[in-house]
Amino acid sequence: MKHVCIWGIAALMLACTPTKDPVEQKIDELLSQMTLQEKIGQMNQLNGMGMSDDLKAQIREGRVGSLLNEVNVDVVNEMQRVAVEESRLGIPLIFARDVIHGFKTIFPIPLGQAATWNPEIVEAGARVAAKEATASGIRWTFSPMIDVSRDARWGRIAESYGEDTYINAVMGVATIKGYQTDNLADSTAMAACAKHFCGYGASESGKDYNTTWIPEVQLRDVYLPSFKAAVDAGCATFMCSFNDINGVPSTGSKFLNKRILREEWQYDGLLVTDWGSMQQMIPHGYCSDMKDAAEKAANAAVDMDMMSYGYIDHLEDLVKEGKVSEKTIDEAVRNILRLKFRLGLFENPYTAKVENPYYRPEYLETAKQAAIESTILLKNDNNVLPLSNVTSVAVVGPLSNVGVDQIGTWCFDGEPEKSVTPMQAFQQLENVKVIAEPGLQYSRDKSQAGINKAVAAAKKADVVLCFVGEEAILSGEAKCRADISLPGAQSQLIKELKATGKPLVLVVMAGRPLTMGAEINMADAVLWQFHAGTMAGPALADLIMGKAVPSGKLPVTMPKMVGQVPMYYSHKNTGRPASNITLIDDIPVAAGQFSIGSTSYHLDAGDKPLYPFGYGLSYTSFEYGQPVLSDSVMKQDGQITVTCQVKNIGKYDAYETAQLYTRDLVASLCQPVRQLKGFQKVWIKAGETATVTFTVKPADLAFCHEDMATYAEPGEFHLWVSADSQQGIPVKFVLK
Ligand code: GLC
Repeated sequence: MKHVCIWGIAALMLACTPTKDPVEQKIDELLSQMTLQEKIGQMNQLNGMGMSDDLKAQIREGRVGSLLNEVNVDVVNEMQRVAVEESRLGIPLIFARDVIHGFKTIFPIPLGQAATWNPEIVEAGARVAAKEATASGIRWTFSPMIDVSRDARWGRIAESYGEDTYINAVMGVATIKGYQTDNLADSTAMAACAKHFCGYGASESGKDYNTTWIPEVQLRDVYLPSFKAAVDAGCATFMCSFNDINGVPSTGSKFLNKRILREEWQYDGLLVTDWGSMQQMIPHGYCSDMKDAAEKAANAAVDMDMMSYGYIDHLEDLVKEGKVSEKTIDEAVRNILRLKFRLGLFENPYTAKVENPYYRPEYLETAKQAAIESTILLKNDNNVLPLSNVTSVAVVGPLSNVGVDQIGTWCFDGEPEKSVTPMQAFQQLENVKVIAEPGLQYSRDKSQAGINKAVAAAKKADVVLCFVGEEAILSGEAKCRADISLPGAQSQLIKELKATGKPLVLVVMAGRPLTMGAEINMADAVLWQFHAGTMAGPALADLIMGKAVPSGKLPVTMPKMVGQVPMYYSHKNTGRPASNITLIDDIPVAAGQFSIGSTSYHLDAGDKPLYPFGYGLSYTSFEYGQPVLSDSVMKQDGQITVTCQVKNIGKYDAYETAQLYTRDLVASLCQPVRQLKGFQKVWIKAGETATVTFTVKPADLAFCHEDMATYAEPGEFHLWVSADSQQGIPVKFVLK
């Protein structure tokens, strides 16, 4: 009986033991053949520009796992040949590049893509980017950047999907799907990279690389969810962030990289440092030297070292000294090999030639549609837009005809000469005479010498179209501004154009919100683009001439003044929410200290932004009914269905994005006055009514508690379905 029992148990265990995943079996097999040096070689990522003999030698010796920035497909294939055919184990390289919002066909910067509130167009854009980039041999992009960004001074807000956690999650997932498809081994699939992990957008004073202090509760409620969504979407890789978070640089953070990413989330993808971020732990004052930095990064479960040479120079000694275990090395190499197997690089390491890989008409059309949907109509007095019965336009301003600026930051491979600028787009129109005069040579141009020519052009035209904003170089990495007003003499240009009395349409092209209240007041209409890419010009021509209707909505708050920043809609109510506001110029002389009230606002700005998160107009108008709830009581195991009627009461068929917000009125930790929990972009014909439907569950209402548990608390909630984060009358429901 005893033997039968034992064998029976063994058979049962065998039957229950899951057959090991074939990829894991291949990894085991390969790992068992690798020397320690070869394992460490896989953890080394180098800048692969050019095909130097020295680089080939390092590849041949198995000292390189990945190359970044080589985009000549012949060079890529030759480097790959050396790895596959001349190294001892023939492990293929993975080639990476920053393909952030397009490779050759450039889409709106991610902040502009967020302004579309359309994950489908974002996914379509990422798909185009992957098709173009993989034709160059790139199979790994360092995108999406899903850092919640609430500070317009920070240059990298341009690369994010804005200030909201939910939007960063939704758009990040859409981008990942577009890059990776559901078959990472497809030759047009590209591994995505969720970055920068984590909290980078909280850099103090909006200054890049600056320190961040983020309480764990806030980290879990605001900054981590977009990354968790990326894990759930199967994002193949993650990247560390440059910042220290509460004193520990992310690259050395066991809390982030082991506790959260590996233990809590069970992530089995590859974690790479940012460029040199391992070495930067020395100036951070966290590591004494490169060997110390390599030790701390390895023991913080960072798999691959981008350009610090820390692993390749020191890991072997660290293992021999017992400071880093070979088990740690094996875990890292498993993650790297797993990515290469999943990409199919062992079976298909080379890039086949692709005919006509770039700028295909369908790619450009997708980019134009994304640019159209990213454009936000902020103002349209007297319905000056869309133009009608116009025979001549003055196209002026420093961004009216500059291909390199309209494609924005992080466009390594975008070709400015391929951009179609607003001036070019208008010149292609029939029956419209274009009088072009930039007035200023570039956005920072302080010389006013050219303004009179722009004014003269304006006087000859029916309407003035003035293209202003920021050159591309004024946003992106390390491009932070303490003053976020219009640079140069642009404000003076607008003032003098206004003085002509001609209808004035401002078109802003920028990498961030700008404090432009005065200039916007001078304009009759304002269209806003966060650098909208190759097809920004045709998109604007269609919108201004009425072939398309604006549908973009702000993914960030537009402050009146930089002193209001950081400013975001999902703020707390405070104990003294703003009321009885007395602005600085309205304070009586010798007013008594408490005579003008004591609530939460700035004397010189009030408490409201210039434009709120979620705001955007159309050429038509929409009327929202009150939300109707399936039940006013939600059970912990239940849900509520929300319906709301949205009527197009104007004369243009158009998109509208209905936004679902909730507020937890009383909780054991103070909760924001509103939080976006859903949105629907719907096409509504003039005069017709659409019904938008949402489902709200307790999990949507959950927040992190002091014990770090995340769950929803019973109590009363407000719920809105509205056109932006300030409009709407809430309905109440109770969570039991
Ligand atoms: C940069 C950026 C990161 C980028 C990497 C590679 O410094 O911080 O976002 O992917 O280096 O270029």
